[in-house]
Amino acid sequence: MAKKRVAVLISGRGSNMAALIEAAKAPGYPAEIVLVLSNKADAGGLDTARNNGIETAVVDHKIYGKDRAAFDRAMHQVLLAHKIDLVCLAGFMRLLTPEFVGLWSERMLNIHPALLPAFKGLDTHQRALDAGAKVHGATVHFVVPEMDAGPIIMQGAVAVRSDDTETTLAARVLKVEHRIYPAALRLVADGRVTLVDDRCLIDGSAVPDASTLTPE
Ligand code: GRF
Repeated sequence: MAKKRVAVLISGRGSNMAALIEAAKAPGYPAEIVLVLSNKADAGGLDTARNNGIETAVVDHKIYGKDRAAFDRAMHQVLLAHKIDLVCLAGFMRLLTPEFVGLWSERMLNIHPALLPAFKGLDTHQRALDAGAKVHGATVHFVVPEMDAGPIIMQGAVAVRSDDTETTLAARVLKVEHRIYPAALRLVADGRVTLVDDRCLIDGSAVPDASTLTPE
């Protein structure tokens, strides 16, 4: 089967993007990262992508002012021009219009640094600490119009330590992110993920082995 052509959308440092790029170098990996697209020309991850010989593009949201639809259309054109099959949001900090999300329905993934549906939005690690959560983690999910919602493909958990700070907890969760995003993209690109009643099944079943990473 031909490898799926993947675009990674970033706004910043791009460590998840780098993890996807590394994973995709493995010969049997079912996807190739052919494009890294940023809404910011100074996103650190763009250099990493270029250093890996991956084409980059910038669609600057500021040019479009409040016209989110025009910004999304511009991105869509770039994705079409590169014959993209799957889109991975990786620290992409723009809200997307329902129209754009609809065009990439079941073909666009996001990673969120919490165990959804807990802690949607920002500052997830501090909020998990404040809540006294004992288990925290990260989620890869299909993107739907509602932010940080959508069918969960894979989750990875870490145990919260009593001496954790936001920094130490974020660092442990990030390590998990770098494992589950490539694993989830592999599952999707291999066609092993199906949606039943808005929930993801792996290989047609709810057996969790392929879709969870449990605490160390
Ligand atoms: C990650 O924590 C990711 O979960 C969130 O934004 C952050 C991006 O980090 N969506 P990076 O740019 O991948 O290093």
